[in-house]
Amino acid sequence: MSQHEQQGPSGGVLIVDFGAQYCQLIARRVRELSVYSRITVPERAMFTFQHMRPQAVILSGGPRSVYEHDAPQLDSKILEQGVPVLGICYGLQWMSQHTGGEVTPAKEGAEYGRTELQVMDAQDLLAGVRQNGIVWMSHGDKVARLGPGFQVLAKSEPCPFAVVADRKRRFFGLQFHPEVAHTQDGGTMLKNFVLGVARCSTNWNPGNLVDTKIAAVEQLVGEQGEVVMGLSGGVDSSVAAVLIHRAIGKRLHCVFVDNGLLRAGEREGVESLFRDHYHMDLKVVDASERFLGELAGVSDPERKRKIIGKVFVDVFRDEAKRSVHAKFLGQGTLYPDVIESVAAHGGATSTIKSHHNVGGLPKDLDLTLVEPLRDLFKDEVRALGRELGLPSSLVDRQPFPGPGLAVRCLGDVTRAKLEPLRGADRIVREEVEQNGLHKGLWQYFAVYVPQKTVGVKGDARVYEDVCVLRLVSSQDAMTADWELLPTPVLKRISNRILNEVKVFSRVCLDISSKPPATIEWE
Ligand code: XMP
Repeated sequence: MSQHEQQGPSGGVLIVDFGAQYCQLIARRVRELSVYSRITVPERAMFTFQHMRPQAVILSGGPRSVYEHDAPQLDSKILEQGVPVLGICYGLQWMSQHTGGEVTPAKEGAEYGRTELQVMDAQDLLAGVRQNGIVWMSHGDKVARLGPGFQVLAKSEPCPFAVVADRKRRFFGLQFHPEVAHTQDGGTMLKNFVLGVARCSTNWNPGNLVDTKIAAVEQLVGEQGEVVMGLSGGVDSSVAAVLIHRAIGKRLHCVFVDNGLLRAGEREGVESLFRDHYHMDLKVVDASERFLGELAGVSDPERKRKIIGKVFVDVFRDEAKRSVHAKFLGQGTLYPDVIESVAAHGGATSTIKSHHNVGGLPKDLDLTLVEPLRDLFKDEVRALGRELGLPSSLVDRQPFPGPGLAVRCLGDVTRAKLEPLRGADRIVREEVEQNGLHKGLWQYFAVYVPQKTVGVKGDARVYEDVCVLRLVSSQDAMTADWELLPTPVLKRISNRILNEVKVFSRVCLDISSKPPATIEWE
């Protein structure tokens, strides 16, 4: 049994991912009901089912058609387990195909967007759902004929089988997406299924998560085991470290690598929080010479990333080897990373965010992984961090890329450019945070653009570089919008950068959304 299968509680809802854009949203919605949920790919669904013993199954939507020869397939035994099943869109079509129904292409081609739901039977799944509420359709095929035992609970203008059920077997199907915010009463339908029909246990909440996670770490590591772990100062590794530390105390050995690409005050912040406040065993390795040495003269962004990743692995490996008794490696891996890596190896999800964290980990260390956050989403990790008493400045902090300031320092990376960039970044952070403007922003930072432009300083003409401000809002970093700050704040930032940081003659604001631009400049 793989590491992935060993973790996470049993019970709850198993979600089979047919490649749905919204699969993680379904999992989140279920967890918001205090019910554990877990996503699996169709190929592994029965295996995971047997291990997890879920109380209900949700079959997600997906971009494919059930007739395509390589459409994602699922062992139909999942319908013989005696637990309620909710099929959403493709999930409904798959269920119909395997229960004697018929699926055809939608008559006027694909149906996308809003439509009104005419409720015909407002019991169980549709209890409390309004008449003519808006639901969100997105499908190319539809069910043309229901299998024996099924009945219609609701229809919509183009779709006679918008909500169907076989109540005896507790199979339900929705031709639209209940998990998206645009579907009115979608939350009620999911709640009706999870709590009403399936009567799932409501035992998932951040309060008891702390105790459960600590107990799991204690059990895995044992009474003598030691753990070594890299601390980046970011949310995930910090929360993971504090949890592991609660479980095993001084048997956790943290390593913080200063790569010379950090923001002002970052290293000191980590030292004061983890060493002085939490009294953790923390080793700070100043490897900035080595990183900057290897980066000298390199301008290509991908090469920069690769070099930084490789040097990090080398430095960390050397440190980990010093912890001779450590047989375990702590990591702040999150659930989306796990799902992505499963999907990347043959799963159905069609768009996978490329994951570019620094270096990954040394493969040759032969250590057992301790990953207490492996079944959690980012917002759950934040809640856990708060529960553990971590300060909001850490738990709610803006993301910072693994390769650090190197991807914000265009061209080659030198101390002569990093110092002023660090100064400008500090000014941006101070002004945004002191004015309470950070709450609406996903990220706010400065970029060093080594392009000489003319300026006047004193009585002389100068040719100096450009500092760009990047201020974006976003939900998940997949898309982002540029944002403005109040003019007086922008003026202060600009004045301070031009006066306090000596190498810039010009400050510009990046007004590009993602896509087509990315958030970072490299
Ligand atoms: P982009 O620039 O692709 O960034 O729009 C999306 C989000 O990811 C962060 N980012 C990184 N994070 N290692 C990381 O850990 C990286 O190499 C990396 N590159 C970008 C970026 O800050 C933004 O939040």
